[in-house]
Amino acid sequence: MVALATAFRPRRPFFAHSPFRREERDAVIALWQRCELTRPWNDPVRDIERKLSEDPALLLIGADELDRPIASAMVGYDGHRGWLYYLAVDTQWRGRGYGRALVERAETLLIERGCPKLMLMVRQGQPSLERYYHQLGFSDSETVTLGKRLIRDE
Ligand SMILES: CC(C)(COP(=O)(O)OP(=O)(O)OC[C@H]1O[C@@H](n2cnc3c(N)ncnc32)[C@H](O)[C@@H]1OP(=O)(O)O)[C@@H](O)C(=O)NCCC(=O)NCCS
Repeated sequence: MVALATAFRPRRPFFAHSPFRREERDAVIALWQRCELTRPWNDPVRDIERKLSEDPALLLIGADELDRPIASAMVGYDGHRGWLYYLAVDTQWRGRGYGRALVERAETLLIERGCPKLMLMVRQGQPSLERYYHQLGFSDSETVTLGKRLIRDE
């Protein structure tokens, strides 16, 4: 008799359509730190909690074959524009199209919600990242983004 059930099966096949699970929190924050996406004025724990309270289906996590988080995207929709945040692919997994897959998944989720346009912010001084987004179909919006802090995380 052949044992069929012994092969490892990840809970979700790569790639990356699974919403965040609470037990992944520390691993996802560590991923963001490795990808240099965290900032002292943004508490990532609070960022995750805010997202989960608003629309948990829009925090996407990509996992490796052992179901460990290796990629993420946080998507927002405010009824007018969609926004992409925390796009991250862990260093050793880059260049395999996982970032593109997450962006395309974000686009699909937004289109399903009737969102007409996806926006994102790139911190200044990252021309290669801007080129990356250009080849994914984004163009410069020729606007200056202004922000005003309403809740302090520090
Ligand atoms: C940006 C990031 C998510 C890209 O992830 P990735 O999985 O390596 O990207 P992909 O493999 O999907 O790349 C898609 C395409 O972009 C190209 N590309 C990747 N990085 C690029 C760059 N810096 N400049 C130009 N093109 C780039 C790839 O060659 C690929 O082209 P192809 O699909 O025609 O083969 C990843 O580098 C990352 O996590 N960076 C650190 C965090 C960060 O800066 N996030 C963005 C915050 S705004």
